[in-house]
Amino acid sequence: MDGITQRVLEGLRAQGNTRVDEAKVFRAPGRVNLIGEHTDYNLGFVMPVALDLACTVATAPRTDGILRIHSRNMNDTREVPVDSLPALQPSRHWSDYVLGAAKEVLAAGYPVEAADVVIESSVPVGAGLSSSAAIEVSTALAFLLGRTIDKLDLVKLARRVENNFVGMPCGIMDQFISVHGQENRAVKLDCRSLGHELVPLPFSVRVIAVNSMVKHDLGASAYPQRVKECQQAVAVYAERIPEVQSLRDLNAEQFIHYDEYVPTPARWRARHVISENERVQAFREACIRHDRAEMGQLFYASHKSMRDDYEISCPEIDFLVETAMGLEGVYGARLTGGGFGGCTVNLVSPEAVDSFKQQLGAAYFQQFGITPSFYDCRPAAGAGEVRLG
Ligand code: GLA
Repeated sequence: MDGITQRVLEGLRAQGNTRVDEAKVFRAPGRVNLIGEHTDYNLGFVMPVALDLACTVATAPRTDGILRIHSRNMNDTREVPVDSLPALQPSRHWSDYVLGAAKEVLAAGYPVEAADVVIESSVPVGAGLSSSAAIEVSTALAFLLGRTIDKLDLVKLARRVENNFVGMPCGIMDQFISVHGQENRAVKLDCRSLGHELVPLPFSVRVIAVNSMVKHDLGASAYPQRVKECQQAVAVYAERIPEVQSLRDLNAEQFIHYDEYVPTPARWRARHVISENERVQAFREACIRHDRAEMGQLFYASHKSMRDDYEISCPEIDFLVETAMGLEGVYGARLTGGGFGGCTVNLVSPEAVDSFKQQLGAAYFQQFGITPSFYDCRPAAGAGEVRLG
């Protein structure tokens, strides 16, 4: 049994639960997105990998009709009567992710039972590595208590937590990869058909995420604004090309043909999404050919597009990307996740990983006085129950 599983089980005892022998444990991973940023809610392509950083949840029954949730990360507990769940409103508290999951499990027609629920996550919060999908998926599994659910239904249920209760109009990528992650594989997802393909990454390249340790407040308001700007661009094209329902339906040529009718900044946002979708396809091909130089160039092109057209980067992230690009053994670097801070993702040759960490860490500290964290992103398995004993 790993340390985190032991701690959440111990947490149940510390909460005074007397039925720990009936406990079940579930986990769901965070992710790093390799390429395809802000394309998911435009029904395009993404290519994330699940991480071995995950949210782990232990649950054991109570007999008093209370749902009692405890976060070990926040050292905070919240209690609600199970029968108050249907009418419960969000409170802009960490527990929204968990109670939202309970509400969606109920709304999907499953019972939610009185329980102690203890949560510990190793996914850093606010780092662009999807700590929210990890808590949504793992707690949804804990409320389901091992009842059968179709994988895609679980993905959609967890996304509804974010869209309906937390209030973020996010796409489907994070919840999808948290459920469908595979060891040693990236997952290329078509966010319209929801069909996915497992893509092996070349052994001769390592994926390293670098946490800038900053998260700018702008992110929360900018995300829904970007969603709206994309819809604004779609409306212009839909009027002229009837089959266009999302930016996914436009190629670069069609885009240029009518782009003068799209006001800025919506025009730039659309240009990013259209070019990013093409880069995901090209990245897949480059992975299969083991063309590390091309993979790296696509990373950097993606970064420039996010910086200049989507305008979701920030000085700390740009510095990490530019500095990484100048280091020996680095093929490419880019911002990953929602933006305005969080992590960069880097493609690094295995023998250069140590010097990469050392040199980038020193340069970043010198510039901003911040020590970044590094994560070796080995593609890991998706969510599930943790076998005990
Ligand atoms: C966040 C959202 C995802 C996706 C990314 C950007 O992580 O939750 O749905 O839009 O930003 O690619």
